[in-house]
Amino acid sequence: MIPREDNEILTRVGPGTPAGELLRRYWQPIAASAELTEETPILKVRLLGEDLVAYRDLSGTYGLVGEQCSHRKASLAFGRVEEDGIRCAYHGWKYDCTGACIETPAEPEGSTLKDSIHHTAYPVEKLGGMLFAYLGPAPAPALPRWDVLAWEHGRRWIRKFEPLRCNWLQCMENSVDPSHLYWLHGDLAHLKPMMDGYEETHEFLECEHGIMKRRTTPPQKPGEEPQVDQHPLLFPNTLRHVSQDRETGRHRHNLQFRMPIDDTHTCVMVANFEPNENEHAPADGDATVEHIEFRTGENRDGYRMDMVAFQDFMAWETQGPIMDRSQEHLGLADKGLVMLRRLLREQIDLVAAGGTPMAVVAADRQSPIIELDVINERMGLMKPERRGAA
Ligand code: FES
Ligand SMILES: [Fe+2]
Repeated sequence: MIPREDNEILTRVGPGTPAGELLRRYWQPIAASAELTEETPILKVRLLGEDLVAYRDLSGTYGLVGEQCSHRKASLAFGRVEEDGIRCAYHGWKYDCTGACIETPAEPEGSTLKDSIHHTAYPVEKLGGMLFAYLGPAPAPALPRWDVLAWEHGRRWIRKFEPLRCNWLQCMENSVDPSHLYWLHGDLAHLKPMMDGYEETHEFLECEHGIMKRRTTPPQKPGEEPQVDQHPLLFPNTLRHVSQDRETGRHRHNLQFRMPIDDTHTCVMVANFEPNENEHAPADGDATVEHIEFRTGENRDGYRMDMVAFQDFMAWETQGPIMDRSQEHLGLADKGLVMLRRLLREQIDLVAAGGTPMAVVAADRQSPIIELDVINERMGLMKPERRGAA
């Protein structure tokens, strides 16, 4: 349980809010790059409480600009793209990806009006079929080259879920809450055999990228080794995970981004990568994107419950638009999320004091591929020292 004021500090994401300022120090996912095509080069994006428009101009440059035109506020989502920017549909003002206003066609020749205009614009980068934006103070840090986005031998695809009606932190607390697995997901047919009579211990280890969550299952038979399953929460709003294709047995590595749309909405986007020497997925290329809906019922207020993700969505949304943590009752099994809140608060305070928060890659160096130490011995993904024997 935390005081209501602290709950506000940890959850609110708008400009000038403590957590909003922290989240602005990290590149945030805005879309799958394949969502911006020649036919549909403009996409409305609401991110951290800001209404924006992402576009790809005819030269292939990506931009993210304030939705409302600096002239008289018409939406740029209905504009058109040209070789060097986006033009408002109302009176034709044109902006480039830096927010410079480069044409005001209704003004007399020689007008300098456009030179005084600084339209909201944020840098955009593309990696692994995803587009990321940076909304924080300059200079922008380097975009981390997470393994799932940077690996090239295999198949990559993106899943984008319809927006959740809840605050981003509920999604992230779930990532350090391993005890829900049996109760929320244990009835799914493919998980049931694994869960019957199952017991395990949980550890949470602070690491350079966030929090490593580790489950250890005791030996099921005498002479067997305990089994480890570990994957990290990448601070502040991403989960790195692995699953297994039930038919082929292949490992599917994924990054689950929880993009804070605003205080009470979150968009989950998942980048997946299945290693395979015979396939090639360039890190700077597009990846197929699948849009997924999970609501049921006439009022779309019910949930499909036939997938792990949908079951999680039910839990996160029914905690409330912004869960009131002053009314909760935590137990010992909740120690992971207590650690996350502490870390979050420390990093919020660090940013407020003018510091650089954890896991930010300095602007002046290209991020190497960040290979994460993901282990799932149950599905044959071993610890480095046991991989040789696998
Ligand atoms: S409102 Fe956009 S050009 Fe006038
Ligand atoms: Fe879950």
